Amino acid sequence: MGPVPTQWRGACDNHNDSTFNCNRKLIGARYFNKGCLAFLASINISRPSSLIDSPRDFSGHGTHTLSTGAGRFVPSANCLGYGNGTAKGGAPNARVAAYKVCWPPIHSPGCFGSDILAAFDQAIHDRVHVLTVSLSGGNANYFDDGIAIGAFHAVKNGITVVCAAGNSGPAYGSLSNTAPWIITVGASTIDREIQTDVLVANTNIRIKGQSYSTSKLPGKKYYPLIISTDAKSANASAQNATNCLINSLDPVKVKGKIVVCKWGWSSAIENGEVVRDAGGVGLVVANGPYSGHFIFVEPNVIPATHVSYKDGITLLNYINSTRSPMGNITAPQTTLGVKPSPVMAAFSSRGPNKYNEEILKPDIVAPGVNILAAISEAGNPIGIDIGNKRILFYFETGTSMACPHIAGIAGLLRAMHPDWSPAAIRSAIMTSATVKDNEHLPIRDANLTNATPFDYGSGHVRPNHAMNPGLVYDLSPADYLNFVCALGYNSSQLAMFTKPHLCPDTPINIENLNYPSIAVPKLLNKAKITRRVKNVGTIGTYTVRVEEPRGVSVRVRPTKIKFKNWVKKRSLRLC
Ligand SMILES: *[C@@H]1O[C@H](CO)[C@@H](O)[C@H](O)[C@H]1NC(C)=O
Ligand SMILES: *[C@@H]1O[C@H](CO)[C@@H](O)[C@H](O)[C@H]1NC(C)=O
Ligand SMILES: *[C@@H]1O[C@H](CO)[C@@H](O)[C@H](O)[C@H]1NC(C)=O
Ligand SMILES: *[C@@H]1O[C@H](CO)[C@@H](O)[C@H](O)[C@H]1NC(C)=O
Ligand SMILES: *[C@@H]1O[C@H](CO)[C@@H](O)[C@H](O)[C@H]1NC(C)=O
Ligand SMILES: *[C@@H]1O[C@H](CO)[C@@H](O)[C@H](O)[C@H]1NC(C)=O
Ligand SMILES: *[C@@H]1O[C@H](CO)[C@@H](O)[C@H](O)[C@H]1NC(C)=O
Ligand SMILES: *[C@@H]1O[C@H](CO)[C@@H](O)[C@H](O)[C@H]1NC(C)=O
Repeated sequence: MGPVPTQWRGACDNHNDSTFNCNRKLIGARYFNKGCLAFLASINISRPSSLIDSPRDFSGHGTHTLSTGAGRFVPSANCLGYGNGTAKGGAPNARVAAYKVCWPPIHSPGCFGSDILAAFDQAIHDRVHVLTVSLSGGNANYFDDGIAIGAFHAVKNGITVVCAAGNSGPAYGSLSNTAPWIITVGASTIDREIQTDVLVANTNIRIKGQSYSTSKLPGKKYYPLIISTDAKSANASAQNATNCLINSLDPVKVKGKIVVCKWGWSSAIENGEVVRDAGGVGLVVANGPYSGHFIFVEPNVIPATHVSYKDGITLLNYINSTRSPMGNITAPQTTLGVKPSPVMAAFSSRGPNKYNEEILKPDIVAPGVNILAAISEAGNPIGIDIGNKRILFYFETGTSMACPHIAGIAGLLRAMHPDWSPAAIRSAIMTSATVKDNEHLPIRDANLTNATPFDYGSGHVRPNHAMNPGLVYDLSPADYLNFVCALGYNSSQLAMFTKPHLCPDTPINIENLNYPSIAVPKLLNKAKITRRVKNVGTIGTYTVRVEEPRGVSVRVRPTKIKFKNWVKKRSLRLC
């Protein structure tokens, strides 16, 4: 019993659409679960009924990420009417192939390194151009990490590999997928919200939040407000009542009221169910200091909204200081042009790169909050009863959603410049990014303080600028092998990456790996860094411009580079 390559129905099976080149082999969808099954057998667990031999997507994660990376134009894409508009994937003409490697978690996370490696091997065999890998967790040594090893082999075969940075932020050093051959993607917000406000009676307080629900508060009236801790049931812990966990609220105190709970970093849907079951009519979840200004939109079973830490304090102060506090929750509305945006998502995993501080990660950030994309009809990812409404698109949030945005762009660049290496594609994406938001101010983090390269790497992606970067910092598989050698891996560890490889007698200085960003971990007095640039733009002269980090002076030699022909390479020295 092993992974049986399964072909799913694709465009050429049932359409005579001339826009598809049906002479080319259709790859379709495959699944890989040999590793998962072997592990379960090793601990004497027989195959669970939830583990079905099929590439079918029951959780919806793969469908959402794949349709973000590629997919044709779809008019009137929306979720329960919100976010309505024409949707498309990043590379709308790309063909897609799905490699399912994750299974329902039993005794351990459901994505096994061996299955991931098998999928990489198949994708290399299928000659795909770009892989979008919305998986994270592997942050051990690269020789021990299925994603890092598989990605290395893919990059060696000219395939660009894009991975999610992980959702373990905002703690520093929380990154996954830090290998230098991977494009590591963090998440930021977009300029669309599903806005739902709290109106406070007899004041002009209007608190902006986000959520959507299938019902709204009836009547033109206000409802009593209560803080969940003031509605604690006798036997519940204070902490559980703060977060409105199951059985923590006293129905006598909650009946007919809007309850204010503190967001517990999990789904607010459960909070809504708890409030509803205790007889409440509405829910406000307020962030704590750690999640700050960061809000993502979720559906709810009752009229609800999710507000920032600062706004939550305003609301709590009003409730605390008022004899009979009253409020209302407005009907959700899709709003566009939200400022500021992008803002860093609080959950996006942050640098520094603990494994190689010399390689700055993440590389780039892309939209990863409230992303509307396709879902699988095989499951109900929305998590609430929506009656007989049909849901084809759904809002999801995570670095998983940011990753395929970059993969789509990498696909477009690959189509425009088939001769660019994966490193050149990454360089173009990174060197053309922006660190400014739509108010022309520095991109901020979820606290609205200025973000740093440990949050966003080179910044927020600008796809149109990436088409024409002028110069690129290129890297070859041999450069990556020399990097691995410099980590001091022994021969069996090196064998994960390549057949016998002779390491250079003197290990390379990792700071000089020709990466499109520069990180100097322990800058004492001075450091000398070298980069090589390759001209992929017009023939002409490039002039160095330096914006020095505070407290550091930077000199670059030469200060001008003249390219008489196209692909000439020149070295730069930074002191
Ligand atoms: C699994 O079952 C076999 C046979 O009953 C037994 O020898 C082995 O110790 C069991 N392994 C575990 C991990 O429980
Ligand atoms: C979405 O927008 C289209 C075009 O404006 C419109 O025809 C359609 O009714 C809208 N759908 C919803 C659910 O609002
Ligand atoms: C309360 O909000 C609802 C929509 O959810 C609205 O219909 C109603 O008019 C509002 N009431 C007041 C007093 O503003
Ligand atoms: C607390 O009491 C309620 C009934 O008032 C009950 O439903 C609930 O299970 C109890 N919770 C715990 C943790 O014992
Ligand atoms: C608090 O909530 C957790 C999770 O629902 C539950 O396991 C625990 O029993 C609760 N504690 C109390 C004291 O209610
Ligand atoms: C509300 O008042 C209670 C005591 O009456 C206090 O413990 C709590 O910190 C106050 N909350 C806010 C947000 O002011
Ligand atoms: C926001 O500020 C708090 C308190 O200073 C800090 O603990 C938290 O990490 C910050 N969050 C972000 C996303 O920067
Ligand atoms: C390489 O190191 C690992 C871990 O220390 C060890 O298990 C392995 O035997 C070593 N291989 C060689 C060829 O030294």
